[in-house]
Amino acid sequence: MGHRWTNLSYANVATTSPLAHRVSREWEDSLARGGAAEFDADAEKLGMMPLREAAAKLLSCDVTDVFCGSSATAMMCSVAWAVMPSEKHNIVSSRAAFPSTVYPWSRVALETGAEIRLASYDHNHYTKPQDILDLIDKNTSVVVISHVEYANGQRYDLRKFSEAAHSVGAILMVDATQSMGMVPIDAVESGADVIVSSGYKWLRGTYGAAVGFLSPKAKSLIPGLVGFRSHKDIWDMRSDRMNLPEDASRFEFTTLHFGALHGLAASIEEMLETGIESIWKHDLSLADAVIELAQSRGLEVVSPIDHDQRSAIVSIRPPAGHHSAHIVKRLQDEFGILVTDRSGMIRISPHIDNERSQIELLFSSLDTILSK
Ligand SMILES: Cc1ncc(COP(=O)(O)O)c(C=O)c1O
Repeated sequence: MGHRWTNLSYANVATTSPLAHRVSREWEDSLARGGAAEFDADAEKLGMMPLREAAAKLLSCDVTDVFCGSSATAMMCSVAWAVMPSEKHNIVSSRAAFPSTVYPWSRVALETGAEIRLASYDHNHYTKPQDILDLIDKNTSVVVISHVEYANGQRYDLRKFSEAAHSVGAILMVDATQSMGMVPIDAVESGADVIVSSGYKWLRGTYGAAVGFLSPKAKSLIPGLVGFRSHKDIWDMRSDRMNLPEDASRFEFTTLHFGALHGLAASIEEMLETGIESIWKHDLSLADAVIELAQSRGLEVVSPIDHDQRSAIVSIRPPAGHHSAHIVKRLQDEFGILVTDRSGMIRISPHIDNERSQIELLFSSLDTILSK
């Protein structure tokens, strides 16, 4: 397939996996041909299974630990209303976190009077992990982090945060939208109580599908968002009672775009075939190339580059007199190269489909832009 674009911006939107695209479109076509004749009640009931199964393999957990949704934001909203910390409690996170990671809790806090505590970041958008940990006390009911921060790619050690949260009886919710599909995650080993991820970035699905994980403790929560799929048997429809499933599927409550779900499942299966460890290695080698070619030109890399905190998201500060938004636009308009303008920085986030020659093309194009 001929590509007009060089997408180095998986932290924004993936170039959808061709397989995911095909699977999603085939499902849409079947619905357009015959509605429920081609997608019957049983298919609808079991519609989440392929994605649950694929995600369970990727997260090294049981299929009963996984639930599906339409977006990471919607899933986090349901969790926030399920936990609903009271005015005696606080919620700990970072100022650098993506707004959707924190807003659901801010909304709940508006209702209950709970306190939101956010650790600050420095001029490189870097948050000292200890600054977040220091905000945790005996009144903390939730610690919420983005596994990898969207602006500079800083990655946190999940185990450290789950241990700190559990030591005061709090839960750890992880937004893995910027890591799942790039960084290997062992959900059980991480100690996280909730993990959610959108499907259209590193997992290479389309819009409209997301996945989540729940620990045994989180499986006892009553979801904030409920609907006909919240009852154990979705086709035993009676509005005078609602018996939630025991497993993570209790957080599934409504009809989703099943094509998007099946497409995402196919894309994850494809990644499992390649192996998440080799994907991680590949992505880091491309990040290495970004760092090397930036530094060789005297461009400042603002992302953490040490082994324990880095990811495949590398942000570069534009040189004095240049604006990131302008550079990013010219890269797209004149060279067909996609990177993102985030927090005044040029964010580069390569993945599976990219190779070193494309990173070299990015920097030779940058040379041209910065020389005029
Ligand atoms: C960390 C993080 N969480 C969530 C989202 C948005 O997820 P969704 O569109 O599924 O709500 C993004 C998008 O950039 C993100 O970076």
